[in-house]
Amino acid sequence: MKQYLAALLTLLVIICVGISDARGLFSHQRSPEEDSREVISLQGDGAHNEGSWETSPGDPEETSPREEPAPGPAEGEGGDTPPGGEKKLVEDPTDLLVLVNKEYNLPSDYTPPDLVEPNITFSFSEDLPKRLLRREAAEALEALFGRAAADGIQLAAVSGYRSYDRQKVIFNHRAQERGFEVANRTSAYPGQSEHQTGLAMDVSGSSVGYGLVQSFGETAEGIWLAENAPDFGFIIRYPRGREGETGYSYEPWHLRYVGVEAAREISQRGLILEEYLLEMRAAAEETVAEEGEGPQAVEVDEREHWFAAEQTEDLGLNPSDKG
Ligand code: DAL
Ligand code: ZN
Repeated sequence: MKQYLAALLTLLVIICVGISDARGLFSHQRSPEEDSREVISLQGDGAHNEGSWETSPGDPEETSPREEPAPGPAEGEGGDTPPGGEKKLVEDPTDLLVLVNKEYNLPSDYTPPDLVEPNITFSFSEDLPKRLLRREAAEALEALFGRAAADGIQLAAVSGYRSYDRQKVIFNHRAQERGFEVANRTSAYPGQSEHQTGLAMDVSGSSVGYGLVQSFGETAEGIWLAENAPDFGFIIRYPRGREGETGYSYEPWHLRYVGVEAAREISQRGLILEEYLLEMRAAAEETVAEEGEGPQAVEVDEREHWFAAEQTEDLGLNPSDKG
């Protein structure tokens, strides 16, 4: 009898392992609708993606079982005070070139003024705020998706606008799931996410099951996206090799709208947004200084002229008599 039970148990284990392997085989061919069903179930039962952060399909920026912020996080660990203490608030959150990072933060009550839903394919079917983008970015993304389709590239939008509170939920969940260090490298602290600007959209493709995974960057869709996004005003905001400066892991899926001129220059010169904006500011300051030199120079000339005239008068000479 014992032998019979042991054989039955072994058979059951073999069947279970077989089923899970077969699911693994198909996991990279999910449709957007299937993917969204998974997200719904994740949100419903509190489960989460147990696979490797770097390689498994899923939604590292968005997967969260709770809609309510976690109660009572310690300072700098998921609360309203970011790590490193008080931050500078951005001067104009509505600026299309606004810099939002671990140093420059958005006010908690900032909501972009002109959010709309772009007419593109999403990886989920629900009517959620993460479909939204600011109008100019939304129109540019529609054009980008149109060009992709014409080139035989199927993209899907995974996550766009997020409120401060939504980001807080995501960050806290990520911190609980992976620890604070990993969360801080892969998910923005509330007030530090470009998703709150309405100018960022996470985009993925079918070959990685519409997951937000680094391997997306090596797929035909990911390569196409990196090459073509700048022509529509988008940059890959967190590139490989610049993690130390951006503060975030490589994210081939995170598009940030900055306008065509800036996007082309950033991408052609391999810059990050921080560098580009620093250069812009330096150039603007130089122009102001140069413009300042003009009137100042005239003033100096006038002073010299006046001084010369004064001296001449002192000497009892008429300037026109010199010579
Ligand atoms: N994953 C990016 C940094 C965000 O959460 O905004
Ligand atoms: Zn993103």
